[in-house]
Amino acid sequence: MNINALQDMLGQSKYTVAFTGAGISAESGVPTYRGAGGMWNVYDPDKYANIDYFYQDPSYYWQFFRDVRYPSLHQAQPNTAHNALVSLERLSLLHTVITQNIDGFHQTAGSQKVLELHGSTRVYTCMQCKEQFSMHQVFEFLESKLPPTCPKCQGLIRPGTVMFGEALPMQVLHKAEEAALQADLFMCIGSSLVVQPAASFPVVAKQSGAWLVIVNKDPTPLDDMADLVFHQSASEVLVPLVQAKDMSQ
Ligand code: APR
Repeated sequence: MNINALQDMLGQSKYTVAFTGAGISAESGVPTYRGAGGMWNVYDPDKYANIDYFYQDPSYYWQFFRDVRYPSLHQAQPNTAHNALVSLERLSLLHTVITQNIDGFHQTAGSQKVLELHGSTRVYTCMQCKEQFSMHQVFEFLESKLPPTCPKCQGLIRPGTVMFGEALPMQVLHKAEEAALQADLFMCIGSSLVVQPAASFPVVAKQSGAWLVIVNKDPTPLDDMADLVFHQSASEVLVPLVQAKDMSQ
């Protein structure tokens, strides 16, 4: 029933935004941060994902990368929920994806307009000479040296992700805010909606008149302000939504 309501909103909306979090990649086998099986239940983010701690002792971050991040990401692929968002974009029913995810799956699946709030695991940079490396290259460096260093200048390498304690990329933030303000329909998919400033965008969208829809397995602090809430997996909602839209085209 709720899918029908969401389908109606999608049909009426002139500007629709999907705002995604780790939950949309859970069905690709990538663990979330919070909730059941969440990485932060085991690894303290203040140690493993904090910029001050990284400067103090980068080995923690790189150990986490070697033991958790790389094994979960290097062979994982986008799933049917990512594909559903691609289909909606191709049907001109989805205009922007704002993601907190760093796995690059939206782009791999084929989404064209993606704003990555928290950076990406695809690029690593030497902090000294600015040489860039891929995830796989850095993993290879790590096999012989922890923390890994630049083969050219021995400088420290850092990930292209935004750590706790760092500012989000200004231009991306600005574009995300514009999209939130413009949205008629703002769909949050697979996010606990507790990390700021990202979690402020659904509020901005709702306050400027958008329908707010939340698709997340666990309850979120914004459920009460949402127009529709699905406590289901991303694919359980997005796949039937696209099928229904395909049939009505
Ligand atoms: N479909 C939909 N939701 C799911 C699924 C699924 N298949 N599996 C899990 N979830 C939900 C969980 O219930 C959880 O509430 O996804 C949510 C994921 O929440 P988080 O792990 O907190 O992920 P996210 O909101 O993206 O985290 C925000 O925190 O540490 C950081 O920088 C990291 O970008 C990340 C930010």
